[in-house]
Amino acid sequence: MPVIVWSEQLSVGIESIDEQHKVLIGMINSLNTAMAQGEANMMIGDILMGLAAYTRHHFSYEEQLFEQYEYPNSVGHKRQHYELIEQISALKDQFESDLSGSVGLEIMQFLKNWLTNHILKTDKAYSEYLIAKGVK
Ligand SMILES: [Fe+2]
Ligand SMILES: [Fe+2]
Repeated sequence: MPVIVWSEQLSVGIESIDEQHKVLIGMINSLNTAMAQGEANMMIGDILMGLAAYTRHHFSYEEQLFEQYEYPNSVGHKRQHYELIEQISALKDQFESDLSGSVGLEIMQFLKNWLTNHILKTDKAYSEYLIAKGVK
């Protein structure tokens, strides 16, 4: 069962970014499936690593737009990105050293809440500005 389902409610009105958010949501759902099926910790560690890599890619994409269009509220936004990257890598280390796998549920809750809150509050805050600059 997916932990997050993409809906128009999560749209920031910019297609390229919505597509990347859908990929992130897909990866979080795959992680959930792998955990629910009791996949090996190594494999889950690999999925987490892939998620961290794609998250970094997505964040640089947004940050490059902030730069290019001189988005005025980029400082706080970039700080949130930085913190998430740190947290994902900490969770990955924690997961790899936790043989009981009990951190799994915690990771899923964290990723779900973080991503939906970030999209709904922080990302949506740039929509109007970037759309006015012609970003698609
Ligand atoms: Fe963001
Ligand atoms: Fe985003």
